[in-house]
This record gives sequence, structure tokens and C-alpha cells, in this order.
Amino acid sequence: MASSGLTSVTVNATEADNDGTTTQSLVVSSTSVSVPEGGTSSYTVRLAAQPSGNVTVTNTAGSGDTNITVSSGASLTFTTSNWNTAQTVTLAAAEDSDSTAGTRPITVASSGLTSVTVTATEADNDGGPVGPRADNPYANAGVYVNPQWRSKALAEPGGSRIANQPTGVWFDRISALTGNGSPTTGTMGLADHLDQAVTQDAANGSAPMVIQIVVYNLPGRDCAALASNGELGPTELARYKSEYIDVMAGILARPAYANLRIVAIIEIDSLPNLVTNVGGRATATAMCDTMLANRGYVDGVGYALNKLGAIPNVYNYIDAAHHGWVGWDDNFGATANMMFTAATASGSTAANVHGFITNTANTSALTEPYVGSVTEQLRQTTWIDWNRYNDELTFAQAFRSRLIQSGFSSSIGMLIDTSRNGWGSCVQTPCQPTQATRPTAASTSTDPNTFVNQSRIDRRIHKGNWCNQAGAGLGERPRSAPATGIDAYVWIKPPGESDGSSSLIPNDEGKGFDRMCDPTYTGNARNGNSMSGALPGAPVSGHWFSAQFQQLMANAYPPLS
Ligand code: BGC
Repeated sequence: MASSGLTSVTVNATEADNDGTTTQSLVVSSTSVSVPEGGTSSYTVRLAAQPSGNVTVTNTAGSGDTNITVSSGASLTFTTSNWNTAQTVTLAAAEDSDSTAGTRPITVASSGLTSVTVTATEADNDGGPVGPRADNPYANAGVYVNPQWRSKALAEPGGSRIANQPTGVWFDRISALTGNGSPTTGTMGLADHLDQAVTQDAANGSAPMVIQIVVYNLPGRDCAALASNGELGPTELARYKSEYIDVMAGILARPAYANLRIVAIIEIDSLPNLVTNVGGRATATAMCDTMLANRGYVDGVGYALNKLGAIPNVYNYIDAAHHGWVGWDDNFGATANMMFTAATASGSTAANVHGFITNTANTSALTEPYVGSVTEQLRQTTWIDWNRYNDELTFAQAFRSRLIQSGFSSSIGMLIDTSRNGWGSCVQTPCQPTQATRPTAASTSTDPNTFVNQSRIDRRIHKGNWCNQAGAGLGERPRSAPATGIDAYVWIKPPGESDGSSSLIPNDEGKGFDRMCDPTYTGNARNGNSMSGALPGAPVSGHWFSAQFQQLMANAYPPLS
């Protein structure tokens, strides 16, 4: 077949028509390209046949979504020798605040040849379709560094090694929203942090900016413990709604913050407490029974999800405790169902939930590389104690599936707080009375208890221990999409902030003295009546605890360089 109407220039052709000639044309790798907002995508161009001289190919954006541009390769030159080598054209999509997937045609043209149209379509940063929210808000994004935490970290010897890590910003009282100057929350209110996040966003190029805020002020807060009791009494749900959530939502919805990705961590420990610490269980407390009966937590969480979820750039993640709390058969499905009950309370729907977070402020190991999978035999050890899980990563992935079974969207993602679960070798005393050296291989013991105790990296005395754990270290540094189903490893509990005071310290924050923070305490039903494993000399929860900060850095895993 001779060239049919096309201009053909054919010399030494490699792609021959059946008469031995090759029609010259533009060979484009794809005629439809999706370009993530704040990112780039590319296609390639080459010639079908060797030209007799240089050929210039232009790539020109037409009329359409002007956020999409040709960022490199607008003009390509092919020679008699490189004509067959594909050259790259890069398209960029600017970050915009709309939720529609704009398109723009890119015309690939060369004089005398038939041009080709590449349709570029804007996509979310995760590469998926543009919706009001990214599938994973952390993908390709910067994460806000709290200047108040940063300056405390910088004031510590060696603290500059981690001072630029993003940490959660906790709003643990109504007055924290405006900035109350307390040791816990400092002088910056919510709007101050958001303003700073906008500034950090402007400084980080085209990448979007995540800010992680912790919503933590339910009535009757921390019903199974005392160290983080709050300002609202068990019947003060109305104040929670009007003075806390409504005020917070009003600030978050301001147009100035519309381009931020606001990750809202919803109410640590609250819903799991309603499952595990109520009713006839040995672990029950009167306050958890009260908060279950009066619906303060369920309706409060539903209200928060509904109000915050109405803001298009807020991503709600509900706190889901950790494997050493929810991983038992009795608790696993019941907690997932409780999450769904709360997510559909107070007029909310499950669509207001973007995902869940595990291990917030806890020290459960991310993985237990030397214990391996939880066999029936290992379930019977004292350490694992019939739990189905022995690490956070496996638990978070399995709990995600269980939550979907309870009615949540199959697009939910998980976060894991890795701020304090590193468990490097304990080089900063006091260490736990269990072994101080991080294992480097599985134990060879044939006794299951000895095997687990010699192999495990989590060196707590008992998995129910949660307060200022001796021997703990910083865990994985925050990062996006580290594993299947996991949106990010995050540092929500700011390293160096206490979990509770070692002895009673009067305060005006509602904080009680919980003996789980007293190193001399011999325990209760929630930690198998074990020693608390807490560091001595701790201040009230949320206050700076220098000795803990130093220990976390010294015992970090991966180690700090
Ligand atoms: C405290 C909060 C504090 C948070 C982060 C919680 O245990 O109750 O007041 O903001 O930890 O450190």
C-alpha cells in the first residue's frame, strides 16, 4: 500500500508497509493521560520512520482546564539517528480547590504530518478520580510541623534530629481552640496553627499540606483511666457540641484553609472503652458504664464526624485503640460495630469517615519480626494471651477489613501512630525489668513462653501498660503509604509529652492521677495485675517530660543518626 494521502518521507524504514515503505507518522505512547493535582505525568513521542533531515514536533496545550500545562518537552527535535528513540513530554497539574476532573487537549504536531491529540485529565494525588477528597491525603503531601512542639524538641540536647517531624496538634479543651497559654497546648489556637500550615504550604512548592489535629474533649473523657480526664462532666454533651465542635468546625471551614488537607483524629480511646470496659467484665468502670448508657461518646463522635465531615477538605480518622486492646475475638467485631454505630449517630453517615488510626499514644510494636505469625500454640503464651494479633501492622490491616464488613466504605485507609513503638535496645535507663537488648533473631527455645519472651521486641511487662513506658523508643518516622491499606505512619502523640503524672499533681485541666503512671503500682484487671512499667518523675499528661523525650531518642528504632 502506498502512502494514502499522508506525507511520507521514508528512508531505511524499519516498519515496513507491504510494499516495503513506511508511512511517516507521529507515534504517541498514549492519547489519554491522567495528571495528579500538584504532580506530573508524561507520555512519549517518536517517529514511525527515519526522516531525511531533522523533524520538529510540538506539544501544545489547547483550550480546557488551564491548571494543566506542558512542563517539559514542548518542542522535540528528531534527527536521522534518534528518530526511533521515544522522547518524553511532561504534563503538570496545579493544585486547585475544585472537585471536578478538568481536561485539556494537548496537540502533538509536526509540519506535514497528521497531528495527534492527547487528552490530559486532572486526577487526585493518588491517581484516582478527582473527588472532594484525595483517597490518601498524605500522598505526595507535606505534613505540618507544629512550631510549639518543634521549639520544645530543639531545646533538648540532640532534639534537632527530630524537631522537623510532623506531630499531632491536640485540642484537649475548649480554651485550646483559641490558645490558652497552658503548658499542654501553648499559646497558639486552632486558627494560629492553620495560618502557620498555610505558610508552610506556600513554602513547599506545589505539594499539598496536611495538618493533623486531634479532637479530644468528649464528656466524661477517658472513662477507664484518670490521667486524661477532661473538663467536661459526663452529662455535658451539649457543651461539647456547641462550645467545642461547632467552634472548631467554624474555624476549619474558613476559605483561607480550603487548600489544606485537615486530618482530624477523632476521640482517642473513647469507643473501644465502650466495648471493653463496661458491663459485667472484670475490666469495667462505672464511668464507662455511664458513658455507654447516656450515649455521650456515641452521639458526641457522631456529631463531630457529621460537622467536620461536612467540610470538604477535612479527613476524619476515628481512633481504634491497638491490637493489645481490640485484637481479642471478644472485642474485634464488637468494636468495629461500635464504630459503625457512632459513625451513623447524630445524623452522621459512614461516608463521613475517611479511615481509622491505631496505636495512638501507645507503644505496641509495629511488627514482631522474630516472633512471626500468631500460631495456635503462640496464642496460648502469657504475652499473647489468646489474642489473634501480636503487632500493629497486621492488626490494622485486618481491622480495616472487619470495619468494611461492618459497613464502612472499602476505600477507608488506616493510620498507625509510630511515635513511640520503636523498641531499640534500651540504652537509656530506666529500662523495663525484661531484657534490655533488642533481639536480632528468633529465640531457639522450644518452650513457647520463653520463645516469645526472648524473641519479642516489645519489652513491656504487659500489653495493657500504657503510661510513660520505660525502655520505649521512637518508632518509624512518619511517611505516606508504607503498606497495603495503610495511608501513613504518623506521630500523633508528640514525643516528650507525658501520658500522666507519677504521683498526684493538682491542676486545673481536669487531669486525675492514674496509678498506671506510678512505677510502684502493681496493676489491675486491665494490665493483668502487673507492674505499671511507667517512668518515674512524670508531670501531668500533655506536659513536657524531658527524661521521656531523651529516652525515646536514645532507644529509637530505626535508630537516629
Ligand atoms: C493529654 C492531653 C495532651 C495529649 C498529647 C493526652 O494524654 O490528656 O492533654 O494534649 O496527651 O500529649
